Amino acid sequence: MKFNIAVLPGDGIGPEITQQSVKVLRAVADRFDHEFNFEEAVVGAAAIDLLGDPLPETTLELCKKSDAVLFGAIGDPKYDNDPSAKVRPEQGLLKLRKELGLFANIRPVRAYESLIHKSPLKPENIEGADMVIFRELTGGIYFGEKSTAEDGRSASDLCTYSVEEIERIAHLAFKAAEERRKKLTLIDKANVLETSRLWRRTVTEIAKDYPSVKVEYLFVDNAAMQMILNPKQFDVILTENMFGDIISDEASVIGGSIGLLESASIGTENALFEPIHGSYPQAAGQGIANPIASVLSAAMMLDHLGLKKEAETVRMAVELSIKLNVCTIDINKDNHYSTERVGDFLESVISDTEGHIVNNENLNLGQMTII
Ligand code: IPM
Ligand code: MG
Repeated sequence: MKFNIAVLPGDGIGPEITQQSVKVLRAVADRFDHEFNFEEAVVGAAAIDLLGDPLPETTLELCKKSDAVLFGAIGDPKYDNDPSAKVRPEQGLLKLRKELGLFANIRPVRAYESLIHKSPLKPENIEGADMVIFRELTGGIYFGEKSTAEDGRSASDLCTYSVEEIERIAHLAFKAAEERRKKLTLIDKANVLETSRLWRRTVTEIAKDYPSVKVEYLFVDNAAMQMILNPKQFDVILTENMFGDIISDEASVIGGSIGLLESASIGTENALFEPIHGSYPQAAGQGIANPIASVLSAAMMLDHLGLKKEAETVRMAVELSIKLNVCTIDINKDNHYSTERVGDFLESVISDTEGHIVNNENLNLGQMTII
């Protein structure tokens, strides 16, 4: 099959991790006889530097006409440390999400068997943890009216939600729960926030359409604690934009590294795939960034394009790299591989139709000449 894929590497480690995903996708195209046309465009700080705009019109147009968008990362410390900056790289991503109507951000989190002993959390608490976070992505405080008083001594960010905004993502989350362990946890702050009370009412109403799904409600502060104490209780999490942003970074500790967590941002017309991590500017260009979150995002993209077997092949290659410790320094402290070599390994596993790598029981790091 033929697909047009927009590639937006963005800032910091974005370009080097995205490059590995493109490599992996090319290997998938070769092996399964597809045609993927990749077209690159600038976004974020890179686009501000070049064109003075974090989301140039040409980038937006390219994304709109593509079958899917592969996104790297966004952000640059020169803006983080300047609160008076008029344009910010993040505005590019937020505008892109809004313009493409990507209202649902789906973030799966699982504990990898071979990594649980490396987690700062107790292995017995995280073993078998497997959840997916549905984060609302185009509403709430991120997009509400913003203002700073003229004297600069007060500021405001408005948080607004409509029933429609809650309903459309809630249906997706309930449908996912039906296919999984049939439990949905709504995370909110309904003891304080009016918007959270609207979420609860709306979700309680929708729950009637999904009688097989058990619904639980958790306040976000308690949820943050439960995420560390007993993450196995979660199956599908549904939450608003900012709570989802925070909870998903926290949940990444369960996976062993934030460098492993992928995401899909879905709308009715478009879809974008990006790691949950940021641009990690300190690591840019050093070849130490973990490409797996980006590669797994590419796997979600393949799923979205209806290429299930291809997506599974990519996940299998990732599992193997983790099992064999062909990993970057965040996971493999003592004998780490570079970003590019991890990408090369994944590429060679995918291209290895004879099963030389997968079936070679004698394979160890020293013998891995194939990469
Ligand atoms: C994320 C990121 C973004 C967000 C930033 C870069 C704007 O943290 O995708 O989680 O807050 O949504
Ligand atoms: Mg975030």
